[in-house]
Amino acid sequence: MPREQFGTPNSGPVRRKKLFIKTYGCQMNVYDSARMADVLAPLGYETIDEPDGADLVVLNTCHIREKAAEKVFSDLGRLKPLKAARAKDQDPMLIAVAGCVAQAEGDALVARAPYVDIVMGPQTTHRLPELIARTHRSSGAVLDTDFPTDTKFDHLPPPRADGPTAFLSVQEGCDKFCTFCVVPYTRGAEYSRPAQAILDEARGLISAGVREITLLGQNVNAYHGDAIGSANTWSLGRLIRALADIDGLDRIRYTTSHPRDMDDELIETHATVPALMPYLHLPVQSGSSRVLEAMNRGHDRDTYYRIIERLRKGRPDIALSSDFIVGFPGESDADFADTMQLIEDIEFAQAFSFKYSPRPGTPAAENTDQVPDDTKAARLSALQSLLSQQQKAFNQASVGLHLPVLLTGPGRHEGQMVGRSPYLQPVHLDAPATDHGKIVMTEIKAAISNSLSAVAIDSTPESPSRKTATRVDAH
Ligand code: SAH
Ligand code: SF4
Ligand code: F3S
Repeated sequence: MPREQFGTPNSGPVRRKKLFIKTYGCQMNVYDSARMADVLAPLGYETIDEPDGADLVVLNTCHIREKAAEKVFSDLGRLKPLKAARAKDQDPMLIAVAGCVAQAEGDALVARAPYVDIVMGPQTTHRLPELIARTHRSSGAVLDTDFPTDTKFDHLPPPRADGPTAFLSVQEGCDKFCTFCVVPYTRGAEYSRPAQAILDEARGLISAGVREITLLGQNVNAYHGDAIGSANTWSLGRLIRALADIDGLDRIRYTTSHPRDMDDELIETHATVPALMPYLHLPVQSGSSRVLEAMNRGHDRDTYYRIIERLRKGRPDIALSSDFIVGFPGESDADFADTMQLIEDIEFAQAFSFKYSPRPGTPAAENTDQVPDDTKAARLSALQSLLSQQQKAFNQASVGLHLPVLLTGPGRHEGQMVGRSPYLQPVHLDAPATDHGKIVMTEIKAAISNSLSAVAIDSTPESPSRKTATRVDAH
């Protein structure tokens, strides 16, 4: 196949190149990786699924726990011989390390892996083409770990839709400085995009076939972007109401939220906006007020209970998810028992849980009262077993319900499709591939480990009931 394949009227022939991106960490990184592919597409880069044969490999990294950060170095070790084999090519393989490890480790990363060509932080995605150009003039790695004053969002092309669901980044960064967390250092200060830019991006996605949008932010409910039609700012609840008014947007979700920013308006939005799905990921980290204070979370155990009570009052079927850290420095058996009690009381539909991992530069890492690893492991195992029982019970309780499912891809078997229930459960059912992107009404027949199986009960997916996400009990 000839390498010179297509051109643009203004820039002459564009050389077709291959791009491999590996994404670690949170959905913000997933969003940024998609934007990198968008920004490189006009330069002739097309995405491939493996690093072999790539002209550019991007590792979009995560620094949240030691394991995540270390994984990058083992992946770099595997890329080294691939790059060496291409060294004599006219166009050798370039390796870029992007994201939070790049931001946190910068020069140290280059010292450890000198064959890396580009090191760029999470706020300079839009500069990737320029950084690639600079590698041709530079003898060593090109570094860009700035926090530019102009935001990357002002420079990125509008995202391309890829299926019926999409992420939309509305807020970035964090000013909360939980004592265990690297995010405020790697992503920088909190920033909210103006509401107009978000609505424009949403309209573009919807006109390209998107029906469900997940609003993203490290602290998405701290959103306070420029309002439309006034000099004020909008909260997340207000933004969601404006999005829900756009024709064709059937489902809205948001993640990750912080208990401190769960204001009345947002709780009210859960009760009154049917397009806002009845699912909330609200990390609590610990059920002990003493530990929460040492974590600098800014709320105690009771505040969390009260938020959940108010949410359930307005939206009784809301499914709850959370993050937990076990073995935070100084966590006693009694503290851990408080966490287990909170889980028993609240009942989560799903959750993520981690052993505390000391991170360089964070206050908790300096604490001398570290919990031994075997204690952390025992606590994690007890906590995960309780959470997994609750997840199973939640899925089991869905059997017999009539739920609308947005079909997003091929299912487990031939002739099946998979989609998501309003509660974010994967649902498998017999459906033709042409139903991709449709919302079909189903009856849930069985709960199989972490997913559901269902049958379609209404073949007219465009019926008005599609906007209704309430649980309808089967008779
Ligand atoms: N902004 C979100 C969390 C983002 S980080 C919030 O405040 O809830 C995602 C999750 O990683 C956190 O909720 C926490 O549970 C976990 N995490 C963060 N730092 C960690 C660390 N040092 N050790 C273990 N888990 C950690
Ligand atoms: Fe990290 Fe806390 Fe900020 Fe969440 S709120 S990103 S846990 S510092
Ligand atoms: Fe990881 Fe950075 Fe996200 S540290 S969790 S990729 S904000």
